[in-house]
Amino acid sequence: MPKITFIQRDGSRNEIDAPDGVSLLRLAHDNDIDLEGACGGSLACATCHLVIDEAWYDKLPPKSTAEEDMLDLAFSLTETSRLGCQIKVSDELDGMVVSLPEI
Ligand code: FES
Repeated sequence: MPKITFIQRDGSRNEIDAPDGVSLLRLAHDNDIDLEGACGGSLACATCHLVIDEAWYDKLPPKSTAEEDMLDLAFSLTETSRLGCQIKVSDELDGMVVSLPEI
């Protein structure tokens, strides 16, 4: 099972066994990571914003136009920002590190 590491705002790291196909938003919610996801993954908010470690960013599928438009509304946007509800875990992402953005 792939492992995904979340770095929380206090700097603590949670390495989580991630079932294939689950979104990073669902994974966060199932493991008490403080990621909001107000719209439940329907691309209508930007509160599932995550900062992807640079080493992993290019391995992700490209953003849709809708994700790009929604990301523009996110606080603390970075060059490697993505929406957690739009990224599904796969074997290729085993070891990925993502951070919760500053708020
Ligand atoms: S949870 Fe709202 S856009 Fe991802």
